[in-house]
Amino acid sequence: MNFLHADIGSAKDNFKSPVHNWYKFTAGFSHKFVDEIITKENLKNRKNSQIFDPFAGCGTTLVSSQKAGINAVGNEGQEFMYDVIRAKLNWKITDNEFEEILTYISQYLVKGYKKFDFKTDTHELLKSLYEKKTLITLYLIRNAILSLSSNKYKLFFKLALSQTLHKVCIHPIAVPYISRNKTLENTGDPWQIFEVSARKMLSDAKLYTKNKKTSKIHLHDSRFLNKSIEDDECNLCITSPPYLNNLDYGEVSKVHTHFFEITDNWNDITTKVRKKLVTGSTTHYNQSDFNLENFSKSDFFLDNKNIGESLLRTTASIKTISKERLGKKSFDLLTLFYFQDMYHVLKEIRRVVRSRGKAYLILGDSAPYGVYVPTTDILGQISKNIGFKDYEIHKIRARGTKWKTLKYRHSLELTENVLILK
Ligand SMILES: C[S@@+](CC[C@H](N)C(=O)[O-])C[C@H]1O[C@@H](n2cnc3c(N)ncnc32)[C@H](O)[C@@H]1O
Repeated sequence: MNFLHADIGSAKDNFKSPVHNWYKFTAGFSHKFVDEIITKENLKNRKNSQIFDPFAGCGTTLVSSQKAGINAVGNEGQEFMYDVIRAKLNWKITDNEFEEILTYISQYLVKGYKKFDFKTDTHELLKSLYEKKTLITLYLIRNAILSLSSNKYKLFFKLALSQTLHKVCIHPIAVPYISRNKTLENTGDPWQIFEVSARKMLSDAKLYTKNKKTSKIHLHDSRFLNKSIEDDECNLCITSPPYLNNLDYGEVSKVHTHFFEITDNWNDITTKVRKKLVTGSTTHYNQSDFNLENFSKSDFFLDNKNIGESLLRTTASIKTISKERLGKKSFDLLTLFYFQDMYHVLKEIRRVVRSRGKAYLILGDSAPYGVYVPTTDILGQISKNIGFKDYEIHKIRARGTKWKTLKYRHSLELTENVLILK
């Protein structure tokens, strides 16, 4: 399988591909990963094909499927990303309506400027990331868009504005977190950048106006059964789950969620974003959320006794090292929560993907405090316990040898892999 190489795990290719590049999401995988699987599995010639993506992200699987005319369905747990995806799947944008709305927004801007109260109408975090005049313009464009009656155009222009937020900030906001040690000069005129982004989206959409809408997205937490997706509805799953302790998605999207008033503070990010996702970082829970007795009675533990016991031994080592180093983060609990959550998602994948189907997952291995956790293999074993027949692991690249921060550096080689479940 020579298409399974290092580049498919990164979003680099997407920045050059129409529609895929409508939103900068560094956690995405390459559209070529999806395109190649569609070809390899001969989906265009197979009846009743449908792809499932339980971690849709910025919609790479769904956009590639729709470009190829293949049915696809996905879940995404973040409200903000859900809107990004809905906009990316809408290619019926007309010149007339586009121009009318753009004029409306520009007029709203002129009228609204004097009335806008910078002090009370903008979020403190954004005040520290944008020039005052820029931020006022961004908020006025937002208010104009939110007052539109057409949901389709609201989502379309909201996405152009979301891109603009990335392009006119003083400090980069998506690498994947805010990087305050870098300052960007001449960030540009926000209106101009917004207009150019929207016009580029319009011309991209025109390439695909004849395509049917074949992809659907649900705002849903994949750890739970999604009643809108039937058993055996799909014959393939193409996805990339959160990696163990790699990213805090609540942090990744917080500039946008604060701007669009989905969240306002840390507590909101926890309750409205992190709690709806697979536990991927130590910011998702409190230590008191874990109870060993309940854990050993959980479906996850009972269905995966050997794995559960081995995980308890591994996490005990992590805890010992953590204590020795006076570490404040409970990577031991994170590891248990992560596999328990992923067990529930794997069950949902098994329910949705019919027999003789396959699931392709891009995953990373981990080593909290230098204790190696063969994440990909453990997930492969859990999959077998819940009804998959077998699994294969293809290494796509080495991920370097540091665990999260220099403080916890170790010499283990971590890998990024494709896990194929049959
Ligand atoms: C690695 S990213 C997927 C990127 C995607 N392949 C792309 O190219 O855009 C993982 C995504 O899963 C979402 N996610 C995490 N836990 C989830 C859950 N339990 N249900 C649904 N989505 C979840 C995150 O919000 C994030 O957008």
